[in-house]
Amino acid sequence: MYKLVIQGGTPLNGEIKASGSKNAALPIFFSSILADEPLKLSNTPQLSDISTTLRLLMDMGAHFILEADSSILIDSSNLTNLVADYSLVKTMRASILSLGPMLAKYKEAKISLPGGCAIGTRPVDLHLKALEKMGAKIEVKNGYIYASTKKLVGCQINFDLVSVTATENVLMAATLADGVTTINNAAQEPEVTDLVYCLRKMGAKISGENTSTLIIEGVDRLNGAEYNICPDRIEAGTYLVAAAITGGCITVKNIQPDAMRAVIGKLIEAGADIQTNENSVKLDMKGRRPKAVNIRTSPHPNFPTDMQAQFVALNAIAQGISTVTETIFENRFMHVPELCRMGADLKLEGNTVVCKGVKSLSGANLMATDLRASASLVLAGVAAQGTTTIERVYHLDRGYESIEEKFNMLGANIERVQH
Ligand code: EPZ
Repeated sequence: MYKLVIQGGTPLNGEIKASGSKNAALPIFFSSILADEPLKLSNTPQLSDISTTLRLLMDMGAHFILEADSSILIDSSNLTNLVADYSLVKTMRASILSLGPMLAKYKEAKISLPGGCAIGTRPVDLHLKALEKMGAKIEVKNGYIYASTKKLVGCQINFDLVSVTATENVLMAATLADGVTTINNAAQEPEVTDLVYCLRKMGAKISGENTSTLIIEGVDRLNGAEYNICPDRIEAGTYLVAAAITGGCITVKNIQPDAMRAVIGKLIEAGADIQTNENSVKLDMKGRRPKAVNIRTSPHPNFPTDMQAQFVALNAIAQGISTVTETIFENRFMHVPELCRMGADLKLEGNTVVCKGVKSLSGANLMATDLRASASLVLAGVAAQGTTTIERVYHLDRGYESIEEKFNMLGANIERVQH
């Protein structure tokens, strides 16, 4: 097991490049199941969730090659084992994204029911109901989803809730279904749009991306393609908050500012000077203390739940009182008690945390619980006076490529040590 040891209190300055998006790469890797030829994917982030996805696909009979240019050639065109085993699914819930493609291409699937996680029960009822409506026979028993179909048939899918991976599962399934599928109340996250772009390059007929209505006309087959994964807007946002919380000035390159409008708007409200170019954002908070900003999470294009924990850390040392309301997940405040142990003045009231900014936090020994909560602890640690240790760093490695290298390039002092 590893922990991070952080010596805090230094403003972060300099520039880094964002990695490819985890939440775009995961569905795109699973979309390789639909294709009759290999996919060549570039800008894929080196994260444990990507390794888990590759292991899962290999268990099913896929092959992949790591190319010299660090792109990945993935061939899932002849799967021989239509099972997503519990041993892997329990480590990555996004394995549910294999269901739609397997049903569409191989007409059957046995997938371990993804359990909940630290942030919530994370049900998959919307995925199963939609695929049943498209003609899948689905039975859930002994912790597995048993699904089969003669042929999926296009139809109207109306999601009661906006669900990113349910939208992605149906989107992928619909590409090879008979006829037209319309997804109403579809998720509009940029990662869904990236999946649409990749599927289109594979020959899929899809319209309506970046809106709440996706229309997919089923085709007989999908071919291979080359695709460059979009940048990770959540990783980028995390580093911008790192500059804001330490009173520094950083530029994050290789990003799409358009995909981060809500987050950038809140950073400007917090008093940061922001300059955006086509594929970079510069944030300057030199010598200033952030102002408290109220946050309410909701589906894209509004403020992303995956940036909520990071803004609680920012508000913890900001000037003034603020509220942060989480409307997507029922238990996404695991970072709050840990931040309080660093001297933050945070009070949970239902799905809202009231933040009273303090001048500074003090280092402490902390425990990571989930991916984005862990990120907020790193932000608090680099801002705090003194030493902070964060145990269970594997949570961070799921979503942040080379996190200590990138932070240290900006002037932080983070060491990964075995314990
Ligand atoms: C995706 O999770 C992301 N993961 C999450 O990122 C992200 O926080 C979330 O979308 C919201 O943006 C990936 O893309 C791999 P949802 P997902 O379905 O699709 C309820 C991270 O940190 N719901 O959009 O699982 C659900 O409980 C991760 O990178 C049902 O009730 O989230 C939640 O309240 C964490 N039934 C709401 O919908 C269902 O069948 C939205 O969840 C599905 C979802």
